[in-house]
Amino acid sequence: MQLRTIIQLMLSIFFVIIISYLFRYDVTKPNHEFIPEMVHSIAYDAYSPNPNYQNKKTLQLPPKGSISLGFMPEFDGSDVNEIMSPLTKDEIDLERGQYIYNNYCVVCHGETGNGDGPVTKRGVPPPPSIISPKVKVMSDGKIYQIVSKGLGNMPPYNVQINRKDRWQVTHLLKMMNNEKK
Ligand code: HEC
Repeated sequence: MQLRTIIQLMLSIFFVIIISYLFRYDVTKPNHEFIPEMVHSIAYDAYSPNPNYQNKKTLQLPPKGSISLGFMPEFDGSDVNEIMSPLTKDEIDLERGQYIYNNYCVVCHGETGNGDGPVTKRGVPPPPSIISPKVKVMSDGKIYQIVSKGLGNMPPYNVQINRKDRWQVTHLLKMMNNEKK
């Protein structure tokens, strides 16, 4: 055998050993990494300074007008009278509306809505009747807004009562007003 062939053979064996060493597959151990810089990018912690942004902060405010998932704004400044109930005829549930009314409104507005709820007998100034020509012609959107944001001495209920139930009680109020001849 020529020396050249021997060297070639040894080099090949050496090469195979190196390759098989590099590609040994042991799932319990991390593999070899060439140029690891690309694999491990430098992550910025939420509160760490960040040279990539103009204000040098990692945590950025959401762009103006962003809406969190599932939080569509209820009142965007346009005419409340144009806000329509999202409930379809089948979804309107006056019993549910009555349940909400009994739990949240009766204390002030009274069972019949004429403003003689129990708290009015304990020093709270009685609210106006909500069975009135005024409320009768009120738009659904306006009633919904009063229930959501409150009015004068009436507190807002957007936190305690979810959107759907606020619409249910709005529909109930409409029904109470329309029943009254
Ligand atoms: C803490 C007592 C209180 C509770 C509870 C309350 N309200 Fe009122 N409500 C008032 C007062 C007081 C007013 C009058 C506010 C004003 O005009 O300054 C009012 C006004 C209203 C009006 C407008 C009436 C008008 O003539 O302008 C509506 C509609 C209404 N309430 C609906 C509701 C509904 C529906 C609930 C239950 C989700 C409710 N309220 C719970 C005290 C209350």
